[in-house]
Amino acid sequence: MQPIDEARKLFEDRFGSCPEAISIAPGRINLIGEHTDYSDGFVFPVAIDRHIAVAASATDGPSELFSSEFGESTPFDVGQESPKEGWGRYAAGMAWTMRRAGLPLSTNIQAVVCSDLPTASGVSSSAALELAFAVLWNHLDSLGADAKRLALLAQECEHVHAGVQCGVMDQLACALGRAGHAMFIDTRTLDVTYAKIPAAIEIVLCDTGSRRDLGSAPYNERRESCTAASQALGVKALRDASLSDLNGTWTDRGSVLYRRAHHVVSENERCKQFLDALSENRLDQLGAIMAASHESLRSDFEVSSDGLNAMVEAARRSAGCIGVRLTGAGFGGACVALVQANQVKPFVTQTEDEFRVTEPNLNPNLLVCQAVDGARVIG
Ligand code: GLA
Repeated sequence: MQPIDEARKLFEDRFGSCPEAISIAPGRINLIGEHTDYSDGFVFPVAIDRHIAVAASATDGPSELFSSEFGESTPFDVGQESPKEGWGRYAAGMAWTMRRAGLPLSTNIQAVVCSDLPTASGVSSSAALELAFAVLWNHLDSLGADAKRLALLAQECEHVHAGVQCGVMDQLACALGRAGHAMFIDTRTLDVTYAKIPAAIEIVLCDTGSRRDLGSAPYNERRESCTAASQALGVKALRDASLSDLNGTWTDRGSVLYRRAHHVVSENERCKQFLDALSENRLDQLGAIMAASHESLRSDFEVSSDGLNAMVEAARRSAGCIGVRLTGAGFGGACVALVQANQVKPFVTQTEDEFRVTEPNLNPNLLVCQAVDGARVIG
């Protein structure tokens, strides 16, 4: 069952009435531009047809949430400081962040959350959860905030309530997705250029089945290294540095800061090249650029894992593979592959089979994904 239908049905079973509104928010796959968004760089995500749906009605309070995956959340009141623990902190934290920004949000809700988006796999389930509640309250309280503003507030929620000092890519992708298109985003200006995905290409999420927890992963540490590197270079952010700036600042090419900065500066270039290659349908180049991105994330930025490397190897050798790399924060999770549309079936079978040989303890899951519209209320 689709998450929307499941959420509607569970809501009716649980609360004995029809929900007043249902919101949905997609996950995202980043095609390229990894670990660049907190250095004001470029990213290239796609909102995908795996969603979180929230069915909700106003209540006199407190807010009561139920997730088909995680169960009941701690009840909370939207007018008060939100709970610090449990999955409900994403919803409560979103309400708190919106109120703190001056939006007159006041409606407590009864809600049911359902999802077909894998959790902790690098496809932004937390951004989707935040945006599903953001658009819901925006609708219920007629707040009139636009999608970009909600995305920025969701990023703030992630910082304060999940403790992850993320960039803005996930929330923007989830809020601003467009069917059939990927989004080239300048994370400094927040300008979005939509690029049509050619019909000959399918996007395949290659989930390794190894889970990660960004709160405990060294994500925040990578961000601190990038800030330290930009300070050493005397620039506002690594977005403003070139490879020759790096060579002039570090003589030791093995040093951690040099390698972190080298990844970000070179990844920004790759992201721009990728936009050109995609627009001109130069498939060979897409593959080469993705391979260079994965290698840079593996060796310079050190966010890959044995499972992710094994998935890249398995996919690369399979039928119809145009390009493959890890996607999202890394440290486990998933890869993204671009695959010739007429070869998707053998690609999936061959990649899964080969991956199972190298990583017999992991349970891979390959999903063919379509680009979809961003978070919204559907009724
Ligand atoms: C996570 C963060 C994003 C981004 C990616 C890596 O998904 O939430 O802001 O930094 O990692 O590109």
